[in-house]
Amino acid sequence: MSRAVCPGSFDPVTRGHLDVITRAAQLFDEVIVAVGANVAKNALFAPDERVAMLTEACAGVTGVRVALFDGLLVNFCRDAGARTIVKGLRFAADFDYEQPMAQMNRTLSGVDTVFLPSAPEWAYVSSSLVREVAALGGDVADFLPETVAAETVRRMLLRRMPSA
Ligand code: PNS
Repeated sequence: MSRAVCPGSFDPVTRGHLDVITRAAQLFDEVIVAVGANVAKNALFAPDERVAMLTEACAGVTGVRVALFDGLLVNFCRDAGARTIVKGLRFAADFDYEQPMAQMNRTLSGVDTVFLPSAPEWAYVSSSLVREVAALGGDVADFLPETVAAETVRRMLLRRMPSA
């Protein structure tokens, strides 16, 4: 049985993430979407909230489950019995960022990384850009699963106006 880990911070999960996860699920028997518990100090969503959002967003994708991880990603892969990491690449800068991590992870553990080119329609979408647009009152509905979009806008408004 082939099993892959699709890791990230997912703060919040975007439609671009979902595209990569769905395509990974077509390549492997099982895909574990691994949510980094402590990846961002000032995260918009708590780790368990990100897991809940992903679980709902991936509910219709066969062979996908969502888990939280802390510490080294390769240790999570080992404990989960996964020999492959899947990452999406949007543009060259993503590759420059990802390649050293892929090489480090393989050196540490033998776990290899497979890169999937993002779908062109999501190539400019990132969680950080979506957070910024939402914070400034822009419409982010096209970039996020429906329930995630509503909650992202609400959270960003609360950050701007804590008494709202
Ligand atoms: O969505 P992101 O922010 O690109 O996700 C980054 C993540 C969580 C995949 C990365 O930070 C990670 O793998 N963190 C775990 C810690 C670790 O294993 N560090 C060594 C990497 S070589």
